[in-house]
Amino acid sequence: MRATVTAHKDFTISAIDNRVYGAFLEHLGRAIYTGIYEPDHPTADKNGMRGDVAKLVKDVNIPVVRYPGGNFVSAYDWEDGIGPRDKRPTRLDLAWHTSESNAVGIHEFADWCATVGTEMMLAVNLGSRGVDEARNFLEYVNHPGGSYWSDKRIKNGRKEPWNVKMWCLGNEMDGPWQVGHKDATEYGKLAANTARAMRMFDKSLELIVCGSSNSDMASYPDWERIVLEHTYDHVDHISLHMYFANRDKNTANYLALNHKLETYIETVASTIRQVKSKRKSKRQVYISFDEWNVWYHSNQQDRKILEGNDGWPHAPGLLEDIYNFEDVLMVGLILNSFIRRADVVKIACIAQLVNVIAPIMTEKGGPAWAQTIYYPYYFASVFGRGTALNLIVNSPGYESAHAEKTPYVDVSGVHDEANGTLTFFLVNRQATESIDTDVSLQGFATGKIVDHQVMTHSNLEAVNTAKKQTEVAPRKGSGASIANGTLSAKLPPYSYQMIRVKV
Ligand code: AHR
Repeated sequence: MRATVTAHKDFTISAIDNRVYGAFLEHLGRAIYTGIYEPDHPTADKNGMRGDVAKLVKDVNIPVVRYPGGNFVSAYDWEDGIGPRDKRPTRLDLAWHTSESNAVGIHEFADWCATVGTEMMLAVNLGSRGVDEARNFLEYVNHPGGSYWSDKRIKNGRKEPWNVKMWCLGNEMDGPWQVGHKDATEYGKLAANTARAMRMFDKSLELIVCGSSNSDMASYPDWERIVLEHTYDHVDHISLHMYFANRDKNTANYLALNHKLETYIETVASTIRQVKSKRKSKRQVYISFDEWNVWYHSNQQDRKILEGNDGWPHAPGLLEDIYNFEDVLMVGLILNSFIRRADVVKIACIAQLVNVIAPIMTEKGGPAWAQTIYYPYYFASVFGRGTALNLIVNSPGYESAHAEKTPYVDVSGVHDEANGTLTFFLVNRQATESIDTDVSLQGFATGKIVDHQVMTHSNLEAVNTAKKQTEVAPRKGSGASIANGTLSAKLPPYSYQMIRVKV
């Protein structure tokens, strides 16, 4: 089989906002406790944060981490997580039927972000609380001093404000599972009022309003229209979430799911355009895809805890999906979709980062390791920065549940002009055949291949574990070449590749 791709230097989509390689950490399961924080761990730093986890996080160069939820935030009192640890209350977390010790709060999370070199994106509670909590939290986090809340922060050991720019106005407020769930009008009004108050404090904040929890919600896409009609003048992004699953073990359909993702993005982009033109507005609202990942492997085992049959455990193993090789392909495809929609998706967060549906796994007191999906995320974040190219792709394909034609070859291209590199991320969805792929490089002074990474495996269900940490891992590719302005590579069946060319 053959496929052709045309990349022209001037045929671009948009600059990629680095923040599309963000991540998410929620007070859920073992994400925080025995995930990033484990004071007794042999690698723990003076703040009790695991050094082995911090290293894996740092390597990905994650630009932003969203915190503290998720569903958790909708009944969270941020004040519980400040002040002396031994005075912090243990609370029941209704979202995940667990107990929250509050040993980690905003100070500890901020210190960890500084350690791993990432920016904070904070969510305020618009479920059980509202404008008042949001303005107080903002004052605590961002005001230099001389006021009630900022002085409390100083007293609690942090003199300088953190100056957090990105703020989420609640989480998944369209979901009946959310504490304080609202309809679109109620939420739109509350979000607009909260945004107005937060902007009175600082006009330059970047505010993110809740869109739909997924594109199967009955309220979608009217939710986006109604919420934006209330908030368009006061927010910068609308948040979307989507999780992917291969429940019926149909790989062809599973790997076609990014059609659904791209339809979702395009529908919300057009809703943004509709509301913008109705309001004759000059402002541009973008998409913050601040929860995405594969999530289904752990559903069955989580039931007991989520249904309350285990009482209220603290930091139990929850949502601990063990990812396989097939998921590498899916995550590579999702990231390709975000690169191709760099014009409208300006923030995206893999959900989540450690232990909970996460690229990084830990054992309490034991090792931390990279799950299979760590690698496509790593490659995209580290090498996928620059300008997204509008590629013309001709590939054979197949009919799937999600589209008449799903091309076997899925590709995104990134031109990093500053460093003189062109990077292609390629997924071959074909089960049995290699695809000879020619990429015509137009308008570029032809260069040479500087890196070629391949992920393949004979078993789609192969996983990495504490004992076999590199069962699924990238290896150096071979056989790719450049001649007469054309990059040629063989894409093995079911494979993920990154090819970088110096131009
Ligand atoms: O990431 C897990 C959960 O998925 C989040 O708490 C929620 O926002 C979403 O439903």
